[in-house]
Amino acid sequence: MRGKFITLEGCEGVGKSTNLEFIKHYLEESCQIPVMLTREPGGTVLAEKIRLLLLDKNTEEISQEAELLLIFAARAQHIKHVIEPALLQGRWVLCDRFTDATYAYQGGGRNISISTIEFLENFVQGNLRPDLTLLFDAPIEIGIARAAQRGRPDRFESEQFNFFERVRSAYLVQAELNPERIKLIKAGEPLAEVQQAIIEVLKPWLR
Ligand SMILES: Nc1ncnc2c1ncn2[C@@H]1O[C@H](COP(=O)(O)OP(=O)(O)OP(=O)(O)O)[C@@H](O)[C@H]1O
Ligand SMILES: [Mg+2]
Repeated sequence: MRGKFITLEGCEGVGKSTNLEFIKHYLEESCQIPVMLTREPGGTVLAEKIRLLLLDKNTEEISQEAELLLIFAARAQHIKHVIEPALLQGRWVLCDRFTDATYAYQGGGRNISISTIEFLENFVQGNLRPDLTLLFDAPIEIGIARAAQRGRPDRFESEQFNFFERVRSAYLVQAELNPERIKLIKAGEPLAEVQQAIIEVLKPWLR
């Protein structure tokens, strides 16, 4: 049976990577479900190289069109070589960011039109959409403060506060447009509460 495709979304420092590990452990240990972890941009050798290009601050100015196309180029590789094969093998794929991040960062943050992103989404993904998306939402200050503990900011993390407010709003619009797929997690709460909320969201998928 085909695996489920679950994506984790949200602004910097909201807890995506932390909870990716938590969900993997929960699905494998409590539910005996085989899980593969991956992330975007990235997940293949070429896509990880594109990731480095995108995050590098010491580069020429990257046009927003080039940024968008690099992201979808990485995504095309990732889907064909990693995500689809794993789902076909019956593994559940947990992905740290996916196309909702493109709507949020390149759409909301950079003001690229939704119709352009939709066109590329259909072109690159065909029918592939996540089965379930957990959107970690917290006030920008909280995520930035958490992410700052990690050290030097990358090209995205160096954006202004307003940029992240637009990203957060665009994520919330995505959640309103896709209420069946996207489940909101209040990520500003203590980790134990966040993880209890995650388990509640996963429960209907485990029957
Ligand atoms: N609910 C929480 N309460 C307090 N600290 C948390 C919580 N969730 C995560 N953290 C901590 O915040 C920091 C950032 O978390 P994490 O790296 O998981 O975020 P992220 O969403 O993956 O960030 P990025 O988008 O930058 O990759 C980590 O040090 C993590 O331990
Ligand atoms: Mg992370």
